Formats: sequence, C-alpha cells, structure tokens
Amino acid sequence: MESNVGFSFTFAVMLQTKLRTHTCGELTIKDTGKEVTLCGWVQRSRDLGGMTFVDLRDRYGITQLVFNMESNAALCETARKLSRENVIQARGKVTERQSKNPKLKTGDVEIITSELKILNAASTPPFTIEDETDGGEELRMKYRYLDIRRNPVKEALLLRARLATETRNYLNAQGFAEIETPVLIKSTPEGARDFIVPSRMNPGEFYALPQSPQTFKQILMVGGMDRYYQIVRCFRDEDLRADRQPEFTQIDCEMSFVEREDVLQTFEGMVRHLFKAVKGIDIGEVPRMNYADAMKNYGTDKPDTRFEMKLIELNTLTKGKGFKVFEDAGLVVAICAKGCAEYTRKQLDELTDWVKRPQIGAGGLVYAKWNSDGNIKSSVDKFYSGDEIKKWFVHCGGSPNDLLLILAGEKNKTLKAAGALRLEMGERLGLRKKDIYNVLWVIDFPLLEWNAEVKRWFAMHHPFTSPHADDIDKLETSPGSVRANAYDMVINGVEMGGGSIRIHNKELQSRMFGILGFTKEEAQNQFGFLMNAFEYGAPPHGGIAFGFDRLSAMFYGIDSIRDVIAFPKNNAGRDTMIDSPSSIAEEQLKELRIDLRKK
Ligand code: AMO
Repeated sequence: MESNVGFSFTFAVMLQTKLRTHTCGELTIKDTGKEVTLCGWVQRSRDLGGMTFVDLRDRYGITQLVFNMESNAALCETARKLSRENVIQARGKVTERQSKNPKLKTGDVEIITSELKILNAASTPPFTIEDETDGGEELRMKYRYLDIRRNPVKEALLLRARLATETRNYLNAQGFAEIETPVLIKSTPEGARDFIVPSRMNPGEFYALPQSPQTFKQILMVGGMDRYYQIVRCFRDEDLRADRQPEFTQIDCEMSFVEREDVLQTFEGMVRHLFKAVKGIDIGEVPRMNYADAMKNYGTDKPDTRFEMKLIELNTLTKGKGFKVFEDAGLVVAICAKGCAEYTRKQLDELTDWVKRPQIGAGGLVYAKWNSDGNIKSSVDKFYSGDEIKKWFVHCGGSPNDLLLILAGEKNKTLKAAGALRLEMGERLGLRKKDIYNVLWVIDFPLLEWNAEVKRWFAMHHPFTSPHADDIDKLETSPGSVRANAYDMVINGVEMGGGSIRIHNKELQSRMFGILGFTKEEAQNQFGFLMNAFEYGAPPHGGIAFGFDRLSAMFYGIDSIRDVIAFPKNNAGRDTMIDSPSSIAEEQLKELRIDLRKK
C-alpha cells in the first residue's frame, strides 16, 4: 500500500491540524516516545484476543494502532467493534514494533493507543478498498469516492497534480502568463461536434463549450500578451475511446514573434523538464520526422519509434508474376518480423483473421518464412520461386529465421493496415516496452485533406494553421500538395500534442476560408471577430496544445486516460456517480424555451 510514483510529501508541520499532530505516513523509529494524534480511515482491524491491531489509513500512508486488553479493556472493546472505513481519531505513544513491516514506511513503529474517538461511522463499502479490488469498473465509478481511497487511483491523481505543478513551474519560468478564457463561447471548427448550452437570456440562441481555446489564445497574442498558457478543460462530443473523453484537459500555449523552431525548442524543453522532474529520466535529443516519411515507413502519422520493423514497399519486386492480388494492388508492403520463421500455421491463420477485422480492414495476409535451414516457404509459393522471395527478404533487411508479413491493396488503406499490423507484432514480440520513452516531432503535415464524401477540402489541423511559406503559391492551384507549418509531438506512438504557426494576416486567412468552402458571409459570421482582430496589428504567432490526460496516463504507465481523471465519463458519456446527463425540470425547459414535444 505504499506510494509507487516516486514522490512523497514530507510537510509534517503544514499537515498538522487541530485534529491531528501527524499523518499516517510519516512516523518512523526517530519518533519513538512521542505522544501523537492521528486521524484516518480503518483499513482493517485484527482481534487477537488480548490485543487488537488497527491499520489506520490516510492519503499519506498506514500506521498500526495497538489496543491492549490488559492495560485498557474498555478502549480495546471499542477498537474491536471498529469496522472498515470508520473515520477515527486516535491518540497514543509511538513505540518500536517487535515484528517490523519493511513494506510500510511506518513499519518500524506502532501507536500504543490511549484514546480513541469515532469521528464518523461507515457502511460496509460495496467493494474492497485494496490495490487489487473485487469491484468492477461500473461499481467503482458509481462509488468513485471509495475508489479514490485505493492506492492506484490516489497515486494517479497525485501524479497528475505533480505534473500540473511542474508544467506551471516550467512555463512560468519561461515567461508564460496563465490566463483563463471563457467556457461559454461560440463553436470553433476543430472537427468534432460541439456541446451546446441554451441561453435563457437570449431565447433560441446557444453557447458552445470550447473544443479548445484556439481563437481566444490567438486574440490574446493580438492583445500583446506575448506568451500565454492555460491548463484548460476542453469539450468534444465525439465517440469515446481509451484515449478520448468528452471533457478532457489541455496544456494550451501560444507565443508571439516566433518561428516553428522557437516553438519546438520551447516545448521539447517542457517535456524534457517534466520527464526529468517527475520521472528522473533524460529523454535526450528529440528527433524530427516528416509526415511523408512517417506514413511511408510506419503507416501512421504517430509512429511508435521504440522499435524498428519499418514498412517496406515491395511493388517492383512482386509485379509481373501473375499473382492477381499483387498485380492489382496500388501498394504491396511488408514488415519483417525478426526471429518469427517458426510461426505455426495456427498463429498465421490467427494473424490473418486479425488483419481482416473491420477495424484493420485488410483483404488478407501473405506470409513468407526464411527457415533456419535456408529454405523459403510462403503462402504464394505457386507464383514466386524461393530465390525471388529471398530477394524480398534481402530488400527488407531480413535473414534466416525471419518472417515477412505482406499486405496489398489500395495505397492509403494498405498503409494504415500495415501500420496497425506493425504495432500488433511489436506488442506480441514485447518490443513496446513500458519503461522506454521515445519522444518525436512529426512535422510538415499536409495543410489540407480532401473529403470525398462531401467533396471539399478540410484543414488537417485547423483553419488557422499557416501554410509553409514556400507553398503559399500553390494554395488554389494544387491545394493537396501544400505543406502546413504544423507539428505534432508523439510519444511511444501516442499523439501527445499538436500545434502550428498561425496565419496572422487577414487576406491569407480569408483565402484559407475560401479554400475550405466558406462563403465570405459565412466566414465573417463565424470568424469576423478574428479577422477584425487581424486588422489591428496581429503579431506573427504560433503555439501548441498537449493532451494533459494522455500525458498523465503515459507518466503513470497506463493506456486509458480514464484512470488519471478524478471523475471520468463512461463509454456512453455518462457520469454514473452523479447520474448525468439527466432530464431537467419542466420549469427549466420552459425558461429556456425548449419544447421537447415539438417534432
Ligand atoms: P488538437 O485537436 O490536436 O489541437 O488537440 C491537442 C491535444 O489534445 C489531446 N486531445 C484529447 N485528449 C483526450 N480526449 C480527447 N477527446 C482529445 N482530443 C484531443 C491530444 C491532442 O494532441 N487548438 C489546437 C492546438 C493548437 O493548434 O495549438 C488543438 O486543440 O493529445
């Protein structure tokens, strides 16, 4: 039950209150002989006849209380009746233990209790307050206050608090000012749906909750604030995943009079500081990778670079031999799984089923084994000789004992599927080690993506991102080839943050809205405030936002951000503890002029 995140609190004086002299996590052999008063929850009590032992718990740890039948029978009787999670206050003398518990910080001592007061009774909790609890997810969320008493949840929240403090320490030292922006705003187009709040005072009109403070932070730059940050709640009404919550927190930042290089250096500095201060890890140099290279070599714009196993194109080596799947494919691509030539038929069939799942979307999987005896065996033996396949292996940097896994089909779809297969193989081969952190910048994203369904260009990052200076001329003639002055920070395959140098010129911003299909009126209506601001001397500026929940989860060594959020939503977007969302009173609806009966 001890802290495992590598930081502890030793502010004994500050934590002393009228009700306690010490916390349950600080008494050691040096305190022997002291009269102390502790408060906390009963973790467990053991009645051994003549003696009763109670483990008293608070946020800081556990201290053992001892009650002796011989010296104080009445007190011992009260102690025997204590049940789990009772809130008590105990006074007594710190004494050296006979049988010490090296697993506890306070394990060398116990309190020979002389006074005991029950501050509050507790019903039997619906699950055990232990590291390994018998409570399922749903129950834990409903009784989140009990869940938070458990070490794994408590430690996650404390780690998050520590990260927030260190973030502020770094940014404050770099001259950033923490400034709040409004939560009731008007929608900013960042790709997701908005959460909407009806306005009572303006019937028929609605606020939107911010998907991010993007336009406000840009306006703060026009306001001359120079360097802004905020650890801020953002809201996006999108489907939930392990790394997505409808309300989540960003470390949102903006700087004036900067180029991309300034932003990259400032924020790799921040991440370097956080790793050093919180985990004691030096992340070293932060490499940069072009978006195009990331897609080609890893099949994703957020590559996990903890392991190699790059995607290798086999188009030229595989064409012209009559194997229709490869002949018709826009892309034939392989990954070389080192030392996997021994994979059984069953394993390969299972991998084939895996790539064919709708989430991955591959049509099938071709394999080739280069056995340790030098023989080549593949699922396309009919079309290719051993020598031909050996050339594939050589091209992929393979050697005897290796396995090639090959996907073919439409280029983008196949790249994506191969990227997913690479991650899966990395996982199966234990190459995605939890204690290694590979921090990476992905740069030179395309500015725009074509959406074939609605037949228009969309901003890949957001509409305020500046095009690469060399590509501005191509904005109208060849929009798809324009690079953005944008960057993402990727850690171990997770998109941790993203940002860009912004457009700060009214004409260019207006051109951009035009390319995105906004009429002049629509642009004015939605973003008039920003374009107006640009008329009054907007400085060149740029920034970034980090996913604070994702960062906290990674630092804590878990994949789901839910466990680093005090009160998260479930998969249906519900908070089951407060039972929200919920219906509202007829009176409230009336006031808001919302008639639910209307079709
Ligand atoms: P972006 O949309 O890339 O950029 O968001 C920045 C970072 O926020 C995190 N994130 C999320 N985390 C949890 N749940 C979600 N639903 C969620 N959505 C995003 C990710 C992501 O990298 N205004 C721009 C930033 C800028 O240009 O400065 C923005 O919001 O880690």
